[in-house]
Amino acid sequence: MVKKVIVAKTSDIPVNEARAFPVGDRMIAVFNQGDKFLAMDDFCPHMGASLAGGWIDGCTVSCPWHAWRFSLTDGTWLDNPKIKLDIFAVSVEGDDIHVELPDE
Ligand code: FES
Repeated sequence: MVKKVIVAKTSDIPVNEARAFPVGDRMIAVFNQGDKFLAMDDFCPHMGASLAGGWIDGCTVSCPWHAWRFSLTDGTWLDNPKIKLDIFAVSVEGDDIHVELPDE
């Protein structure tokens, strides 16, 4: 069972940028790739920077503090795939961006 949560309007996130939104007890970064939105944990596992403030290059984001790079498609740290952030399915209904969360 998944829970869909509206996190933002499509106009809230410029193309090739991201914003972080509180969802439950976590922050989720939503990335606008122009033709689609992707969502991932916002919390960098190194020292906790907000990945929504990172540099986006295609399907990767580099952490703004020390440049660890993560795949936006599967959440893996590209230098060590053993570390993986949660990613979330995203859908757009009208102007609303929905993020799907698994039941805890
Ligand atoms: S806090 Fe993200 S790489 Fe250091």
